[in-house]
Amino acid sequence: MLWHSSILPLFAAANAVLAAPPKYGGGDHHHDKLVEYTNPMIPGYRPDPSCIAVEGFFYCISSTFNSFPGLPIYASRDLQNWRHVSNVIHSEEQVPEYSQIAGMQEGIYAPTLRHHDGTFYVIVTFMGAADSPFHMIFNSTDPLDPSSWGTPVRFINTDIGSFDPDLFWDDDGQAYVTAHVFDIVGNNIYPIDVTTGEYGPNTNLWNGTGGVWPEGPHMYRKDDYYYLVLAEGGTSFDHMVTIARSKELLGPYEAYENNPIQTNANTSQYFQAVGHADFFQDFEGNWWGIALSIRQGPPGYTGSYPMGRETVLYPVTWPENGWPECEPVRGRMRGPLPRKSRKVPGDGPWVEEGDDYKFKGDSLPLHFTHFRFPPEDMYTIADGGLTVNPSKYNLTGDETFEPSDRLSFVGRRQTDTLFTYYVDVDFSPEAEGEEAGVTIFANQWQHSDLGLVMLDGSLKARLRTTSFGSDNTTTDTAGSETIVDVPKKLIGKTIRLQVQAASDTEYDLYMGAARKNSKLEHVGTVPGAVTSGSNAQFTGTFLGIFVTANGGEGSTPATFKRWVYKGQGQKIDFDETVYS
Ligand SMILES: *[C@@H]1O[C@H](CO)[C@@H](O)[C@H](O)[C@H]1NC(C)=O
Ligand SMILES: *[C@@H]1O[C@H](CO)[C@@H](O)[C@H](O)[C@H]1NC(C)=O
Ligand SMILES: *[C@@H]1O[C@H](CO)[C@@H](O)[C@H](O)[C@H]1NC(C)=O
Ligand SMILES: *[C@@H]1O[C@H](CO)[C@@H](O)[C@H](O)[C@H]1NC(C)=O
Ligand SMILES: *[C@@H]1O[C@H](CO)[C@@H](O)[C@H](O)[C@H]1NC(C)=O
Repeated sequence: MLWHSSILPLFAAANAVLAAPPKYGGGDHHHDKLVEYTNPMIPGYRPDPSCIAVEGFFYCISSTFNSFPGLPIYASRDLQNWRHVSNVIHSEEQVPEYSQIAGMQEGIYAPTLRHHDGTFYVIVTFMGAADSPFHMIFNSTDPLDPSSWGTPVRFINTDIGSFDPDLFWDDDGQAYVTAHVFDIVGNNIYPIDVTTGEYGPNTNLWNGTGGVWPEGPHMYRKDDYYYLVLAEGGTSFDHMVTIARSKELLGPYEAYENNPIQTNANTSQYFQAVGHADFFQDFEGNWWGIALSIRQGPPGYTGSYPMGRETVLYPVTWPENGWPECEPVRGRMRGPLPRKSRKVPGDGPWVEEGDDYKFKGDSLPLHFTHFRFPPEDMYTIADGGLTVNPSKYNLTGDETFEPSDRLSFVGRRQTDTLFTYYVDVDFSPEAEGEEAGVTIFANQWQHSDLGLVMLDGSLKARLRTTSFGSDNTTTDTAGSETIVDVPKKLIGKTIRLQVQAASDTEYDLYMGAARKNSKLEHVGTVPGAVTSGSNAQFTGTFLGIFVTANGGEGSTPATFKRWVYKGQGQKIDFDETVYS
């Protein structure tokens, strides 16, 4: 197996790239010309990916935890250009339990996206609410239509507590859920009626090869076998993909002797934590694998990986009645990619395209994301501006904060190692503590903010990092605060607040006049580590805006007139950055 030869001793050959040419031979695959491409396939916070190929389109989904809207669907024709086409969870009525999520990475866990008999299905588990974990099955006949996802079918399998559900239809048309079961630390299967949530008896299938957390199961039928693929080792440095198969759906399953089939564990690679795979076949018959991976280097590298778990792509050779062979995940790879095409209909943004908004119309772009539900009257869009009312609580909140309290925050994922993000804002606070600004935000306990704030009766710019430990009891030493005066010439004017990542470990924050080629003042630098790991281990970083009364009585809104995000470079290996 290729991955054996690619495993390197820790820290040795840190810059090793895929030396051997990809191995293709034998089997029922149809490889065309090999084309070079780079990972991540979909950069930024997109963990636990699940992808399918249906009628000329590829579709992918990923986990979203506390983020709302939730469960984005990305569509592509070429596995390279991905358009955000819909959000499975787009209205509060679908999943009111968001307002109960107290934890910083609970809510919407790993989904599975499947297509059967003309209908697209998403099955997912909700964690962190009163009656959770519970499962939901959403369906749509056209995921390119953002309004196509409706009310989920909900169910709790009361015989087993489980998460990471997979949906699989057997040849007789019966649907099955396979899921990780807490009690046995293994994976069970049970028949399900996807239209009602009624379920049948459980069968334990496979507990994996002995790695911790044998989870993220996906079931496939190919040739004479049922294949069960798992994630094992936990979603960090030991993460790996393992596989077992059986001629009968309910087992017994035989584990592959060369497991794991995909991992970067115990290597010195830049892409780590590779696991939680899904497989699909393209329209030429080639097999592909996707997985999550963290661009963090081996243990002890920089500790800065704010984009968290991202979606990566690798070619797979899967011979008839044989085991799948996966190319190891690297930043630069080759594979039989489909011809380039951007023929994906929709108004949603292309992932790699960046933002330039002057705010028109009556809704926010599909990829603008809140933390839980936003306040009902959070914003209005009018006269070329996004006017945002303050939430009483700031992004951190205090001991009286409840998950049902809502934050005036909206952001977009950091999708590039190097980028510039800025907003132009009109804000004339009247009450003490009123604040509006930009944030580098992972969750309430991990964020860095540059705000315009009324302090002791005058307008200041305040740069502050919030970084509590994973139990939210200790303040990280990264916590810092810088307060500077807002220059007189800017008071009463539209002010530009800018975040720039000029390296993979730090963000620089600036303030200045909102005009072309404006000379901005550097307010300070904050570490990428603030939004890496800890309570952001499962999630990732957003760039966005916030408006708050900081616990006071203030109610002055802020108007954002321009919002720009421009990707400038993607680090794909220790010494390689692809500039855009
Ligand atoms: C999985 O683990 C449980 C609990 O230890 C055990 O009862 C069961 O037999 C195991 N399943 C398989 C397929 O080995
Ligand atoms: C789709 O979901 C709805 C619930 O919103 C359910 O009534 C319907 O039966 C489902 N359709 C299919 C084909 O599963
Ligand atoms: C990584 O190394 C550890 C310690 O030697 C070992 O237990 C583990 O199985 C290895 N993981 C993989 C995926 O090779
Ligand atoms: C997190 O802990 C800090 C420090 O103990 C506290 O001030 C804050 O209110 C806590 N936040 C939440 C949301 O519990
Ligand atoms: C957030 O607001 C609380 C009052 O609700 C205040 O005590 C705290 O200092 C503020 N924290 C930050 C980081 O602004």
